[in-house]
Amino acid sequence: MDSFDWNRLAVAGLFSVCVLAASWGIGSVVIQNQTQIKSVFSNDSDQNESIDLASANPAKGRELATQQCSLCHTFNENGANKIGPNLYGVMGHKIASKPNFNYSDSLKKHQKESWDVQNLNLWLAHPTNFAPDTIMAYPGISVQQDRIDVIAYLKTISPSAPSSASAIEKKDNSDPREKSNPEIKSNLSQGKEEFQQHCAVCHTDTVEGNTRLGPNLYNIVNKPIASQSNYTYSGSLKLKKMNWTESNLDQWIENPQQWAPGNKMNYKGISSADIRKNIILYLHSLSPQDKN
Ligand code: HEC
Ligand code: HEC
Repeated sequence: MDSFDWNRLAVAGLFSVCVLAASWGIGSVVIQNQTQIKSVFSNDSDQNESIDLASANPAKGRELATQQCSLCHTFNENGANKIGPNLYGVMGHKIASKPNFNYSDSLKKHQKESWDVQNLNLWLAHPTNFAPDTIMAYPGISVQQDRIDVIAYLKTISPSAPSSASAIEKKDNSDPREKSNPEIKSNLSQGKEEFQQHCAVCHTDTVEGNTRLGPNLYNIVNKPIASQSNYTYSGSLKLKKMNWTESNLDQWIENPQQWAPGNKMNYKGISSADIRKNIILYLHSLSPQDKN
């Protein structure tokens, strides 16, 4: 990273601290407590998933989009499709919904969802994680702040986009434990990253997310095992007449074949207890009973 990036990071970090402090409503406590401030700062940009358009620079996003996307996309109103669809108004719109563009089936599976901050962030980080057989031949934007800038730019050309605040709050404040403890916040963000890395090729994590190789995992914590009617489980998993408690989840993702021999999750498991804990914390944050 050059010094410019560091400056940008520091500014972004400062912003997140302010925004987080404000949204926790415990600003004064945070400011008095040095170690808490440090733990917010010590997140690196990719792990700190506070997708916060308030700290974004749409002008920078526009520049990036011109460099990286305009080969395949136009951004003006009524602009033509190129290799990809015109992106005017994309934010707040249903995914893969422009009538005059021929989308991949993989992206069309998301048609029930809209392009909000969260989905754009997942898509632009790793298009093939979001839609494994997408025809968008683009590796993704790995630097989180760049993604946020591009998303902020897309919002400026999307008149019907809902206020970004609601989209952010919905995901970001979903776990009450996260608000009162920055350390949990960072574990949760890490769990989310780790889910993306380890699980997202085979599992979606959104409401009504589609089935990939494995079933959708939205609200999986405490659900009866192998109980989703739109998925065909192995006999091995169906034999488990229990719920997905945190302890069962932990044993399952540590060593799927040992916990349920003959199951069809073709995954070796995660030996690090910390990573498992973070992922389970993340799965927990996807449960509506935690949202208030
Ligand atoms: C090499 C060409 C290419 C590049 C570069 C590219 N895209 Fe795409 N994009 C596509 C194609 C093709 C699709 C349709 C994907 C599908 O149907 O699977 C698409 C789809 C999309 C969609 C979904 C639109 C909708 O109507 O649902 C968004 C959003 C998007 N791209 C944003 C971007 C952004 C932002 C960039 C730059 C950071 C970018 N793309 C770079 C080709 C590209
Ligand atoms: C290579 C694909 C693949 C990967 C990677 C993967 N899974 Fe799975 N997962 C599956 C399949 C397939 C099933 C169905 C297993 C069965 O029926 O035997 C499944 C089932 C599950 C279930 C049971 C869901 C239910 O409705 O009962 C949970 C929970 C789960 N996986 C969690 C995870 C987590 C967490 C990760 C990441 C640490 C992960 N999986 C990684 C393919 C995968």
